[in-house]
Amino acid sequence: ENFSSLKGKKILVTAGPTKEVIDPVRFLTNRSSGKMGYAIAEAANNFGANVTLVSGPTTLTPPANVNFVQIESAQEMYEQVMNYYHDTDIVIKAAAVADYRPATKYEQKMKKKDGDLIIQLERTIDILKTLGERKEKQILVGFAAETENVQAYAEKKLKSKNLDMIVANNVTQEGAGFGVDTNILTIYTKQGEKLELPLLSKQEAAKEILKKAATFLK
Ligand code: PMT
Repeated sequence: ENFSSLKGKKILVTAGPTKEVIDPVRFLTNRSSGKMGYAIAEAANNFGANVTLVSGPTTLTPPANVNFVQIESAQEMYEQVMNYYHDTDIVIKAAAVADYRPATKYEQKMKKKDGDLIIQLERTIDILKTLGERKEKQILVGFAAETENVQAYAEKKLKSKNLDMIVANNVTQEGAGFGVDTNILTIYTKQGEKLELPLLSKQEAAKEILKKAATFLK
């Protein structure tokens, strides 16, 4: 198979959820387990790539021999990804990054008061969009986790974020998306190709993603 071109390439993978702090005892997060991103990092390492894995909090053990960078918030993920970006051949963004964070981070535990509470949220930086804007020679692979209009939303992200390919999962399908050991993915490329993958283990899915990404290497 067509993996030899990955040997020695620098691959940056993001994985897991982010954690956005409200106060010392509360935070906002999402259902990402990190399995998809860790499987990509491990497979890329097995194909001889030089892998950096930037990960939010998960319960997984990082694959051996990868440069493991632990972060918590979207802002920290952004800063670490930017540290490595210039010297990277392929970026694969499997992380589920928060789009919003609490506008205020309280230093003390918020006390219960009468009535309802509204927590103001502000936008986080869109890491992938920023990578697309600052692209030099890197191959950019995004993910799209959708619950409806999967193809339309994925193609929109592919274009608006200046990606080379996007990996879409309909997270409402059984055996796909967050937490589980399998995924059902469709890959869209900037050349307009559409590659529908069957239900695969996240390890097998990772290989398919890397195989397609490798076709973009010169
Ligand atoms: O971790 P698992 O439990 O194995 O689950 C895998 C997964 C469902 C998390 C994974 O397959 C997946 O779909 N990851 C992307 C989830 C996501 O946040 O998708 P999105 O459509 O909201 O974001 C689109 C892309 O922009 C993603 O590549 C994301 O990393 C990136 N993004 C999003 C927001 C933001 N502020 N910055 C970003 O870079």
